[in-house]
Amino acid sequence: MGKIIAGKTSDISPGKMIKFSIDGRDILVANIDGEYFATDDSCTHSGSSLSEGKLDGCVITCGWHAAEFDCKNGKFLKFPMKLRDVTSYKVVVESENVFVEL
Ligand code: FES
Repeated sequence: MGKIIAGKTSDISPGKMIKFSIDGRDILVANIDGEYFATDDSCTHSGSSLSEGKLDGCVITCGWHAAEFDCKNGKFLKFPMKLRDVTSYKVVVESENVFVEL
């Protein structure tokens, strides 16, 4: 699909994550010390919006039942049962624009 603009770097403070709707998909973009990472926003457990959970370092904790995922690569980290990883996407920053490659 290509490179789609998600927003401006100023939209996402360090240590924060934000949901962007890009081309009908909800994508979470996180800023970890000035590096940006993107994953699907939907938790692979029951579909909660991960961006409404917590971000601690690069660990996203789902706000519903506390499943954990790595925002750098979408890998499942922790939950009482094994969950699928969330899809991760490459992020490119040009000037002050944050692009996600879908
Ligand atoms: S919906 Fe995310 S842990 Fe249940």
